[in-house]
Amino acid sequence: MLPRNFYKPLAIDAPEPFRELPVRLERMIHFIPPHNEKLRGRAQELVKEVDVLLGNLEDGVPVESKIAARRGFIEMARSVDFDSTGLWVRINALPTPWAFDEIVEIVSEVGEQLDVIMLPKVDGPWDIHYLDRLLAQLEAKLGLTHPILIHCILETAEGVTNVEAIAAASPRLHGMSLGPADLAASRAMKTTRVGGGHPDYRVVADPGEGPRAAFQQDLWHYSLGRMVDACVANGIKPFWGPFGDFADSEGCEAQFRTAFVQGCVGAWSLYPDQIEIAKRVFSPDPAEVAFAKRILAAMPDGSGAVMIDGKMQDDATWRQAKVMVDRARIVAARDPQRAKLYQL
Ligand code: GLV
Ligand code: MG
Repeated sequence: MLPRNFYKPLAIDAPEPFRELPVRLERMIHFIPPHNEKLRGRAQELVKEVDVLLGNLEDGVPVESKIAARRGFIEMARSVDFDSTGLWVRINALPTPWAFDEIVEIVSEVGEQLDVIMLPKVDGPWDIHYLDRLLAQLEAKLGLTHPILIHCILETAEGVTNVEAIAAASPRLHGMSLGPADLAASRAMKTTRVGGGHPDYRVVADPGEGPRAAFQQDLWHYSLGRMVDACVANGIKPFWGPFGDFADSEGCEAQFRTAFVQGCVGAWSLYPDQIEIAKRVFSPDPAEVAFAKRILAAMPDGSGAVMIDGKMQDDATWRQAKVMVDRARIVAARDPQRAKLYQL
């Protein structure tokens, strides 16, 4: 595509694509199964707790409940006041018999309320181009005023191979999540876990006296690193996906934290306890924010070199500090408790 055409709407009268993503705090994408009436009934309460509420229509929803999940999502989107909480839907993958009807029905019925469609099993930019055009046609037909964004799940070996092309495929992209369960299956990795480490993926110290020290390594480092670079280079957002062992809060927190430190801005919460974990992890540490504020104050124009507490600061650390303070400001705008801690 010619660069000058990249930001043109893909259908006559469709809304203009965003040049920059709207600034939104998305520390957790909280999954609910919309065919479950009882859980759906708690949605109005949940929107006060979470940054994003997502209706899941894909894996985890039995085949016989796919239509009920779709109808339940539409009902929820109509009846709940989302205020500034994001409303997302995870549709079934494009080759399935449900995807087309889900896209058309959901956008037709509640497109104005919908912020983001999460698209699973994205293999390459062709998947994005298909959905991009279809959404533009629907938006035009329905007279929608905002573009519905696409968030991809990176969870196939082919997707990881094409991650840079996917991230650059359209101005409609919101970001990507790493999906460790499907990615493991796609690659024939020998793990049945959803995220986290594995005792067989480790490095052992050289032989010597006594037992040899061994440490588990991060199974996801390579793919997550590629995904973060591809996203950030294209101005879209990287996320960690699910952590499946609900009893292991410490493991979940470690997984989320690794992703946060590496550049991710949020993760999925599949279980109520994971909401608080995500809030804790994806809101920067108040002590780090306080230190970052000192760096910014010591170098008002962002250049030169100073020492703070024996640590060298220069233009690059000023930029690091700005990342931290900018992030804290976004958190503070939505989370008054943390605004106080950050003194912002
Ligand atoms: C998420 O969809 C995953 O496959 O991990
Ligand atoms: Mg998956």
